[in-house]
Amino acid sequence: MQTIRSVKKMQAVAWKIAAGKMKSALVPTMGALHDGHLTLIKRARKAADIVIVSVFVNPAQFGPKEDFKRYPRDEKGDLKKIKKAGGNIVFMPKAVEIYPADYETYVSVEKMSGVLEGVVRPGHFRGVTTIVSKLFNITRPDVAVFGMKDYQQAIVIKKMTRDMGYPVEIIIAPTVREEDGLAMSSRNRYLDEIGRWEAVCLFYALRTAQEMVKAGIFDTRLITREMQAVILATSPSAQIDYIAFTDKETLTTVKKVVKNTVCSLAVRLHGVRLIDNMKLK
Ligand code: PAF
Repeated sequence: MQTIRSVKKMQAVAWKIAAGKMKSALVPTMGALHDGHLTLIKRARKAADIVIVSVFVNPAQFGPKEDFKRYPRDEKGDLKKIKKAGGNIVFMPKAVEIYPADYETYVSVEKMSGVLEGVVRPGHFRGVTTIVSKLFNITRPDVAVFGMKDYQQAIVIKKMTRDMGYPVEIIIAPTVREEDGLAMSSRNRYLDEIGRWEAVCLFYALRTAQEMVKAGIFDTRLITREMQAVILATSPSAQIDYIAFTDKETLTTVKKVVKNTVCSLAVRLHGVRLIDNMKLK
């Protein structure tokens, strides 16, 4: 496995891979890797000859009051895990190379970035689409793999890829869950013992929604009410940022659950903000 820290070197290697007619897959990450990331790497392994994993905590996607400084970092551990999961190249650029002092160019998917997470985290997706676009330019992948756990992110990136004309196939891999159902996330490590126990409320709420839909209840107001009750029964101090029902591809809000409706939610508990989602139909 090769570790590359310079943009120039990564570009040169990417050109060589393309010239050798080899197919490459990119798995963009911010490090602090868990089993969810490793599943993305294994998925990429199936799709390409060469798997490139980028590890870069992207300052442009954090708001001024967010956790950029305290975001978990574990370079040594990440390298070991990537090697074990089958990564061939790890791209770990320095922030000054990605965003030099005079940097001023951003890529933004206008409408989709302003809903759901975009309401609570203005500018977040602009930061995500900018870095992913830069990573596409530097690593020239044929395929890029993202997790369904960050569903809106995956859809926004898919749209950016189409709108910008990148010849990159976007694969969205299923969410990996802990045994009790909590979606794996680097931010789970911020949870204290009680928070970790209560964090399963997001999964319980989504499962309730799924059961209601199976029972023929499609009204999103009724489903929302039940989900709120389930969350507060499990975590009485939880604050629900949103529970939303949207079309899987367009992120348009629906009032009744129909085919391809995804329910997503964001909840703050014990000082940690968690998101999750589930396709209902
Ligand atoms: O999902 C993440 O870890 C990040 O948002 C991504 C896609 C690596 C961009 O920084």
